[in-house]
Amino acid sequence: MTDQALVELAFTMLDRSYVPYSRFPVGAALLCADGTVFTGCNVENAAYGSTICAERTALVKAVSEGHRDDFVRLAVVGRGEDYCWPCGACRQMLYEFAPNLTVLVARGDGQFVTLPLKELLPHGFGPASLT
Ligand code: THU
Repeated sequence: MTDQALVELAFTMLDRSYVPYSRFPVGAALLCADGTVFTGCNVENAAYGSTICAERTALVKAVSEGHRDDFVRLAVVGRGEDYCWPCGACRQMLYEFAPNLTVLVARGDGQFVTLPLKELLPHGFGPASLT
């Protein structure tokens, strides 16, 4: 799948976001080496801290379906004027499974930037840090 197609898929998830509190939909699409894609959206909660971000929704869907070490690209998109940068918690969760991931970050007009997760989370703490 092309980067453009992955970003477009992430955009289709915006309508599934459950965002009654922030009114800020986010969509994600996580590509595996075998071509499988797991999508996600943010799902908020009246207890605000229980909210899950779009990227982590996609990631936990993938891991719960047996994917762990084959993530190659993640697209994250929003409708805003600025790029929809992944939050710190999502960067950390992704780093656990895919320190070499490439991240595509889009803004509402469809423009996106491509950068390594390691640039978004330099000197990350991962499984190897515990040895
Ligand atoms: N959000 C995401 O889905 N991903 C991020 O990386 C940043 C924030 C969501 C969480 C919340 O539902 C809304 O955006 C506003 O913070």
